[in-house]
Order: sequence, then structure tokens, then C-alpha cells
Amino acid sequence: MVLMHVVSISSLKGGVGKTTVTLGLASAAFAANLRTLVVDFDPQSDVSTGLGVDTRDHLNVADVLANPKLKTVRQAIAPAGWSAPGHAPIDVMIGSPSAVNFDGPHPTAREVWRLEEALATVEDEYDLVLIDCAPSLNALTRTAWAASDRVVVVTEPGLFSVAAADRALRAIEEVRRGLSPRLQPLGLIINRVRAQSLEHQFRIQELRDMFGPLVLQPQLPERTSLQQAQGAARPVHAWPGEAAADMARNFDQLLNRISRAGKIGEYAPES
Ligand SMILES: Nc1ncnc2c1ncn2[C@@H]1O[C@H](COP(=O)(O)OP(=O)(O)OP(=O)(O)O)[C@@H](O)[C@H]1O
Ligand SMILES: [Mg+2]
Repeated sequence: MVLMHVVSISSLKGGVGKTTVTLGLASAAFAANLRTLVVDFDPQSDVSTGLGVDTRDHLNVADVLANPKLKTVRQAIAPAGWSAPGHAPIDVMIGSPSAVNFDGPHPTAREVWRLEEALATVEDEYDLVLIDCAPSLNALTRTAWAASDRVVVVTEPGLFSVAAADRALRAIEEVRRGLSPRLQPLGLIINRVRAQSLEHQFRIQELRDMFGPLVLQPQLPERTSLQQAQGAARPVHAWPGEAAADMARNFDQLLNRISRAGKIGEYAPES
């Protein structure tokens, strides 16, 4: 499988499911035995928690941003608490509240490339790098995007989601033009869909009309089993029950889609 190497999971809105998607894709990558690094780029550090990483005696992402050298990078990476015989471990670049010190509104050119610089020291060791972003367009998100080949934008099927998704895609395009030509939007993942909700169906159609093939399949339904697996710091692929198995298949398909990235049409918003 040829994978796009570094993928940011973003949205400018909070609480829409970035961390959930990151954990789901990490779970699919774990099941597929890919060598995967998850970078926790949100000062809330939720993805480090969800991956059950033991942070003791380690540095973290804030140390890496202060000093993006191999030695620091290695000390900031720890294995996730997920394990299964014969599976490559998922590694985590540990999150920290101190990352907020690197989230100003106007990063310098040097600051914005710091994660790229750090990842370059270990990139060869991984098939896939997933970056769980913070819900803003400040320095941390720009730094994540500068290190990425692709961005996945997560959205809910709600009233303001079309505008929010449009803003996110425009921001990606702006960074692609101004900073990093290799950056491209992979597409939108619609999360927390309730199949019975007419409102949701209406919003999904609206997103499709506006963004066409950038709306990725499958969409993710709302499932409590996801929250249970997250609460237990377990991969959804290892969680019992048909709902979890269903969700695991959704993430397998999305990971597959990521692995075929590059074939999708580019989004060109009118300026
Ligand atoms: N498809 C889903 N089904 C059920 N619960 C979900 C689903 N997606 C997300 N959630 C729950 O919604 C909450 C917010 O999700 P999550 O933390 O993934 O969002 P986020 O975008 O990472 O938030 P933040 O902006 O704070 O980083 C979590 O409690 C999560 O378990
Ligand atoms: Mg999050």
C-alpha cells in the first residue's frame, strides 16, 4: 500500500470529531500493521489520552517545537498503550498544555516549519503520520499543515458546517499557495450522522452540492461504542459488538481512501 505520508486531521470548529477520526484511523492503521506515528498537536492532549500512552519520563510536543532535533523528537515519542501480538506499535508524539505557547496568531516562517523539521528526523521509520490538530487557524495548525501532504477536514452535518468547511478549505488553499505547494485537502469527513435525521440528510446534501467529490465516503454515524472505546483507551477495532465492528470498517475504508490520495480533484475556491 502506498500511503500519503503525513496527514493532518483538522477543523476550525471545536468538538466535531477530529480526535475521534484520528483515533479511528490510528486503529485502522494498527489493524493493517502500518508503522504509524500519531502527533498530538492539540494542547488538550486528548489523543494522547485516547491512545493510552504512558507519558512518564518523556518529553512532549512543546519540547519538540522548542528544539526540533532528533534527540528531543525521540524523547517525545512513546508507544501507545494498544498492543496485539504481531502488530507494529502505534507511536505517539506526546501532547502537552504547554503547546499553547506555540499557538500565537502570527508564527514566523521559522516557527511554522518546526514540525516538518522534527518529523524529517524520524519520517523514514513510519508508513503514516497522523496529526491531531487544535480547533483554530493559529500557529499550531499552520505548523501542522506545513508538515503535511494532506489535510482531512472533519465536519458535523449541522447548520454552520458548510460555511466552516468552506473556511477550512480556503485556509488550506491559502497555506498551499503561500507556504507549502505539496499541501492538499484530501476531503471532508462528515461525522456524527444520525441516519433518521432529516436535518442531517439536508446538510449532507448541502455539503455534497458545494464540495462534490471532496465529501469522503463513508460518513461516520453517531455511535456510543466509539465513546466507550475511547474511554477505555482501546482501539475501536478491538471493541466488542456489531456497532464497533461497523465503525471499524468505516475507518478501514477511510484509511484506504487516504492511501489512494492524490487522485481526487483539487478544490479551487473562487477568490
Ligand atoms: N461518531 C461519533 N459517535 C459518538 N460520539 C462521538 C462521535 N464523534 C465524536 N464523538 C464524541 O464527541 C466528543 C467530541 O469529539 P472529539 O473529541 O473527537 O472532537 P474534537 O474535534 O477532537 O474536539 P476538540 O476540538 O475539542 O479537539 C467526544 O466525546 C467524542 O467521543
Ligand atoms: Mg480533539
